[in-house]
Amino acid sequence: MTRTLTLISGDGIGPEVSDAVIRIIEAAGVAIAWDRQDAGLAAFHKTGHTLPAELLDSVRRNKVALKGPVTTPIGAGFTSVNVGLRQALDLYANLRPVINLPGVSSRFQNVDLVIVRENTEDLYAGLEHVVVKGVVESLKIITEAASLRIAEFAFSYARRYGRKKVTAIHKANIMKLSDGLFIDCTRTVARRYPEIAYDERIVDAACMQSVMVPERFDVLVLPNLYGDIVSDLCAGLVGGLGVVPGANFGTDYAVFEAVHGSAPDIAGRNLANPTALLQSAVMMLRHIGEVTAADRIMAALARVLLDGTTRTRDLGGTATTTEFAAALMDALADAR
Ligand code: NAI
Repeated sequence: MTRTLTLISGDGIGPEVSDAVIRIIEAAGVAIAWDRQDAGLAAFHKTGHTLPAELLDSVRRNKVALKGPVTTPIGAGFTSVNVGLRQALDLYANLRPVINLPGVSSRFQNVDLVIVRENTEDLYAGLEHVVVKGVVESLKIITEAASLRIAEFAFSYARRYGRKKVTAIHKANIMKLSDGLFIDCTRTVARRYPEIAYDERIVDAACMQSVMVPERFDVLVLPNLYGDIVSDLCAGLVGGLGVVPGANFGTDYAVFEAVHGSAPDIAGRNLANPTALLQSAVMMLRHIGEVTAADRIMAALARVLLDGTTRTRDLGGTATTTEFAAALMDALADAR
């Protein structure tokens, strides 16, 4: 059966890594008809919108999307397409598993944690204004409803996947009302999951501990901004942004995308590592029930990484994106 899923290739390295991933999924024998949608500047040139209605309709129709990164201009310019997409589809939970990959050397070899980032509010609500010249106000929005919902997601994920502990990350010593409400909510939900240990860390101390003793963390639940920052930090523990996947879940839709951005410094040069988006696609395949193909891709990835002769530059090799994808497709064919 051929499924139709939405593909948002994005920009920068997005089209390069998406092409590689699509070919690998096809080589794994999964038949997907991709409903291709533009976002960001490419979409703006065609439709006058950075997040066109056609794209949102496509995800609503297909329920599942694979997404490459989309550039957001710094300072001035259009607002983030990524934030807009998450808000428009109410993709409230951003799930980012951070785990060592076989054959990828990194500072730590025992990292196995999962970041659950609230995706719809906090300082990402985009409510900023100039109060008077030289003074700008950004509103940090934390609601009980969104905090309870993300805590419930984190604990139910922990229960479903046999995780032992959930740690809430906050700065409630300073932001007593907003982050205070967030941890009130995580505590409320924690009481409903007595078999799962619960603790809390102030975000600055959590950053220090995660670069010293990352094995102490299991599932982390964070408001949006801390989640964004801690995700990149944790990616650095296991080999960098080229290897860490992610997924955005709402009640009705799921959009799978890597943690990394559009990497303008290497875009268009066939240098990007497609592993992060590939693993996001593996999460997607499991989500749609293609578990065998997902396992086969992960086995092929482990084989190529352990073999070590074909690696992209971020992992110390010289292979291009397309050479790495070809090695993976060869490994899939050999395993047949
Ligand atoms: P970035 O993640 O694009 O790049 C940071 C560093 O990591 C760069 O040196 C880059 O070359 C490297 N890197 C990232 N992905 C890689 C990969 N797959 N293989 C090899 N190296 C990789 O972060 P940056 O530079 O802060 O952001 C660039 C743009 O991406 C910005 O416009 C930002 O807003 C956007 N962005 C989009 C995201 C999304 O669409 N979900 C997420 C994060 C950033």
